[in-house]
Amino acid sequence: MASGQMSRDEALECTRCRHACHVMLYSETATQLFGRIPIWYIVLMQMRFDGLLGFPGGFVNPSEETLEAGLTRELLEELGVAVPVSTEDHVESCFSPPRSGTCSSSSRLILHFYVKKIEEEQIREIEKAAASTAADHGLEVLGMVRVPLYTTKSGGGLSCFLSHSFIGVARSQLVNSLLRLHLVSPGDLREALRGSQRRHA
Ligand code: GTP
Ligand code: MN
Ligand code: MN
Ligand code: MN
Ligand code: MN
Ligand code: MN
Repeated sequence: MASGQMSRDEALECTRCRHACHVMLYSETATQLFGRIPIWYIVLMQMRFDGLLGFPGGFVNPSEETLEAGLTRELLEELGVAVPVSTEDHVESCFSPPRSGTCSSSSRLILHFYVKKIEEEQIREIEKAAASTAADHGLEVLGMVRVPLYTTKSGGGLSCFLSHSFIGVARSQLVNSLLRLHLVSPGDLREALRGSQRRHA
């Protein structure tokens, strides 16, 4: 486990900590951009009220609800769909970084991250609800976004997306998940990361 990381159970022992849960929802797809560029997978993120990109989810009070029930409640608020999330979908827990980058034990906010694979049809339903019936639409959530999981001829796509600004450790949660779940090949990911750094330079 990387420094600052802990198991779900260890994290819950900190009763004085605040807890927040977020989830990466993704699906397979056969669709192609412009009818010729394969879209590797559909991965959902959101544009937050603060202008940063992040995953759906939010604060959970473990004395009132389980982490997973709290996450599902946040999904109902932010997506308009109560997507069920279980302990089996849990990936990692860590202390929130003071600014950005890696996990840090100086913070009293613990971030719990989940990943759940769903059907492409459910992705479409979530996008529809998030833009219409979701209570937080236009307020805490400005819109759902799909991660552009491909590279265009001009080098756009994932590398450009990664050069935007993300909340907390959302960017590394995304990059680590793409690699771990084999949603992007290691070579394509390396290229995208290199390209995103060039854009910042
Ligand atoms: P309120 O309803 O206004 O309380 O917001 P919320 O419950 O939806 O909380 P939010 O989603 O903003 O998450 C709480 C905290 O977790 C944020 O202040 C960030 O520090 C952090 N956070 C938000 N999104 C992410 C994310 O995608 N990844 C990580 N690692 N942290 C996040
Ligand atoms: Mn067009
Ligand atoms: Mn919320
Ligand atoms: Mn939230
Ligand atoms: Mn909340
Ligand atoms: Mn809220």
